[in-house]
Amino acid sequence: MNELQYTIVAAESSRYETPLLALPHFEGESKPRGEAREIDQLTNGQLTTILERGDFKGKGDEALIVYPSSPEVAAERIVLIGLGRQEEYSIEKLRRAVGTAVRQGERIGATSVAFGLGFQEGLPAELTGAPTAQAITEAATLAGWEPGAFKTKKGANGRKLIGLTILISEDDDEEAIESGAHYGATVARAENFARTLQSAPGNTCTPTFLAEEAGKIAEEYGLGLTVFDRDALEREGMSALLAVARGSEEDPRMIILEYRGEGAPEGGPLVLVGKGVTFDSGGISIKPSAGMEDMKYDMSGAAAVLAATMAVAELELPVHLITIVPSTENLPSGKSLKPGDIIGSHLGKTIEVINTDAEGRLILADALSYAQRYEPSAIVDAATLTGACVIALGHHATGLMGTDQALVDQLFAAGETTGERCWQLPLWDEFRPQLDSDFADLKNVGGRPAGTITAGLFLKEFVGDFPWAHLDIAGTAYRDSPVPYMRKGATGTPTRLFVEWVRTRSTH
Ligand code: BES
Ligand code: MN
Ligand code: ZN
Repeated sequence: MNELQYTIVAAESSRYETPLLALPHFEGESKPRGEAREIDQLTNGQLTTILERGDFKGKGDEALIVYPSSPEVAAERIVLIGLGRQEEYSIEKLRRAVGTAVRQGERIGATSVAFGLGFQEGLPAELTGAPTAQAITEAATLAGWEPGAFKTKKGANGRKLIGLTILISEDDDEEAIESGAHYGATVARAENFARTLQSAPGNTCTPTFLAEEAGKIAEEYGLGLTVFDRDALEREGMSALLAVARGSEEDPRMIILEYRGEGAPEGGPLVLVGKGVTFDSGGISIKPSAGMEDMKYDMSGAAAVLAATMAVAELELPVHLITIVPSTENLPSGKSLKPGDIIGSHLGKTIEVINTDAEGRLILADALSYAQRYEPSAIVDAATLTGACVIALGHHATGLMGTDQALVDQLFAAGETTGERCWQLPLWDEFRPQLDSDFADLKNVGGRPAGTITAGLFLKEFVGDFPWAHLDIAGTAYRDSPVPYMRKGATGTPTRLFVEWVRTRSTH
């Protein structure tokens, strides 16, 4: 993949030759700050004039391209980018600003963009240096991604922007900035990998394909790899996964990766589980045709856990991590699972299948119950599980629920840090009777009320007493409108959240 390549250069921004120099600016400030001050002086107050006249206000996502009026400024062009008001500044605002600058660079056909760090003057220390560098490489790398592998005309969008420079001065802590930039680029490349997997259509991205991709990751980073095919799934007693797979010609898979970082904390490993339904037609309870093509994204949880594992290994985080992906298609055929069927599961519980479109929780049930063998210190799953979650939280929050409030709080915090935000829903016992079945231990749907919660309660039946949390990413895994640092389509969520959470768990 030709992702943005970053470099860190110690140079004065005014003297640095670049097709495009990005200078972030806060709304409501009438004077340029940081290196912009010097550029302003060299250009006889060009930037001050722009601010005075109000041609550029520094509002969030605002951008203005300026040609420096003096040859003493080495940059061919400057792009002023808005950060909004300083009191409301956050790293997410910076990610957006960086994305905005990258889009401007793409628009004018610049080959690279350089960022000055002088705008950080007067910001609280925890928002400067490494986190700034991380946000710049992260957002620029995410902004540069495009799905396009299936278009025959290469570079159909005419993308030329390939270089990213962070300009530092002697006062800056170069080591901290380098490590922040490295972390940002690594998590963003991993998230882009997830987006590429997500975007691959169902006729390419099959369970076998996902297992091959996991195999490549295992090979590259020396991870343990176990792949169960149909026979092995039978042997292991994965009845619920096999029941969903029954209607499909494609072989199902259960994929398990193991990463053992040096110096991992005592206690059981962390386990990540990702729903890997490579196409969800609904099965016999078939979905309406309109929009069904989006159900190629029903393996987004799988993409995110594989990508996060890749980043954790690349960063060599000191942690013991197990990643489990149950994967199948969900299709109707003469062999398909039917409404009313009663199936078994890896745990042994029997399930009455009311609706074959509630397939994700069935395959996750087997993966979660398999996860118990590791005696994990935490299990977290990600799944495009319920349309109800999209109704409840829309496209700006992942549904978060779990059995362990400390774990839920950690995931919430990782969401705030990364901008992959979550919102907690309750798993109260009061909802549980909705899953009671007249014929089996439980049924696979709980009716329309609280559909996201009853799906979560279904999963809870299979995790035993281990600390567990569930992320319903049905509304956040893909989007039909862009944000400044991400095109519409696959988002790779919650890859960055997972890496951040694993990082916090690895230092404890
Ligand atoms: N993959 C879908 C959930 C989904 C819906 C993801 C929309 C992304 C966007 C899941 O397998 C499903 O079909 N869930 C059903 C459950 C219902 C039958 C209880 C749903 O949400 O309609
Ligand atoms: Mn479904
Ligand atoms: Zn599904």
